[in-house]
Amino acid sequence: MAINAKDVIIACDFASAEDTLSFLDRFEDEKPFVKIGMELYYAAGPEIVREIKKRGHRIFLDLKLHDIPNTVKKTMKVLSALDVDMTNVHAAGTVEMMRAAKEGLTREDGSCPILIAVTQLTSTSEETMREQLLIGASINETIAHYAANARKAGLDGVVCSPLEASLVKEACGDDFVTVTPGIRFADSKADDQKRVTTPAMAREIGSDYIVVGRPITASPDPVAAYRRCVAEFVKRTEA
Ligand code: C5P
Repeated sequence: MAINAKDVIIACDFASAEDTLSFLDRFEDEKPFVKIGMELYYAAGPEIVREIKKRGHRIFLDLKLHDIPNTVKKTMKVLSALDVDMTNVHAAGTVEMMRAAKEGLTREDGSCPILIAVTQLTSTSEETMREQLLIGASINETIAHYAANARKAGLDGVVCSPLEASLVKEACGDDFVTVTPGIRFADSKADDQKRVTTPAMAREIGSDYIVVGRPITASPDPVAAYRRCVAEFVKRTEA
């Protein structure tokens, strides 16, 4: 499968392995791509990754590594052995750190999980960048520049808002993968997300993978909600 094949990734933001596995038990006919974040990984450890893999799901392990290159490289080697399908680092860790991450993640047979970078977290405003981080460039310039650094380091793409996906594609090319959270159905509430996009709109403006949490996990019928996402995001262009 091409690395930028369109797909829906469910953000499994549950506090325990039991809650996560009983949620996944509801999916009998499909094996969704799932995102495991820091909360669950630190609570349940690598065993939860092995268990979900064993059940046939693809996994985006969202640990956002940021440390000295040598530490990141060795940690990526451990994650690679866990057989995850996608993982990430902070682009702020530098090109050298991202190169080290890629090296550590690449297996002996040359295969490598999809490696993406976080540019600027959407929780960081331009004002915070300027006043606390002493970054004078605009958010958009920073995102485009960090994405270009990620490409230079040999990474496959970035996590960004769907509204930034076209900016990233312009800076890095169409084959550079965009993974985008902040997705809501047209008729559902935004929760704490500030700028949201529907699955169909995300596709139109350049997302390759959408990361969807509460619209699926908090739905009374998660399987139907997942299918709706797939219908709006994946199947749309195949029609
Ligand atoms: O429930 P919801 O659909 O808002 O979940 C979105 C997921 O994407 C969460 O796991 C959240 O931490 C993650 N995320 C995000 N915005 C970012 C980066 C990650 O919402 N900028």
